[in-house]
Amino acid sequence: MAIATLVLKVLPAFLCLVDGQTIVCNLKDWTQSSGSAVDDQLVKGSVVALQDQVQQLVGQVKGLQADLLKLQQSSTTSDTGVNVKQCSKRDLNDARTNGILMSCNFVKKQNETVLRVVWNGMLRLIHVGQKSGSCRRWYFTLNGRECSEPQTIDTQIFTNSNGKNRHRPAYVEGYCRGIAAGAVLVEWNIGECITKSYGTGASYSGWEATVRIIVEEVHVNDASATIN
Ligand SMILES: *[C@@H]1O[C@H](CO)[C@@H](O)[C@H](O)[C@H]1NC(C)=O
Repeated sequence: MAIATLVLKVLPAFLCLVDGQTIVCNLKDWTQSSGSAVDDQLVKGSVVALQDQVQQLVGQVKGLQADLLKLQQSSTTSDTGVNVKQCSKRDLNDARTNGILMSCNFVKKQNETVLRVVWNGMLRLIHVGQKSGSCRRWYFTLNGRECSEPQTIDTQIFTNSNGKNRHRPAYVEGYCRGIAAGAVLVEWNIGECITKSYGTGASYSGWEATVRIIVEEVHVNDASATIN
């Protein structure tokens, strides 16, 4: 009897306040005496056992809260699928020496992610004209501007006066930071080389075989440390 009544008195002292991420349990204020030393010993034993159980439950609840937080974070910072797009074309056969060769519309879902862009296909540059060589540069633009975080994503072909009509496979790839969520127009361009003193030459992009732009939204834990 004494145990039952005392446990009832003790129970309110075990009330735990669960407030957001915090659990506060008052486990101290349990000392109540029935006036009998034997009963007090029994009660003390019960209270200690209850304290252990409460501590275990508190541990379990904290573990569940941590799991829930992880789930909430993963559902807001990443998707289960990969946000990727490929725009491919056969027989691009573009002989222009300046301009936009290919476009690919992409929808970036988050601000904090980086974009990986890839172009692959065939490129050619034959030297023509009086200069010592010809040079063309192929490069990506994102919403009309070249990547600056951290670098441009580009390549060049230089051909000297002995240059033959050599077609080469090209694979240009890079990561770009700082592109906001929303529509991103990814374009593959051709234009002047960084050194301007060479001729334009006769360039050719995408002869017969397939060319493609690949765009992928990538989650990077610490973009500034890993994308340079
Ligand atoms: C991206 O950032 C802009 C500017 O801070 C904000 O208005 C927009 O809601 C953000 N978009 C997403 C998807 O987080």
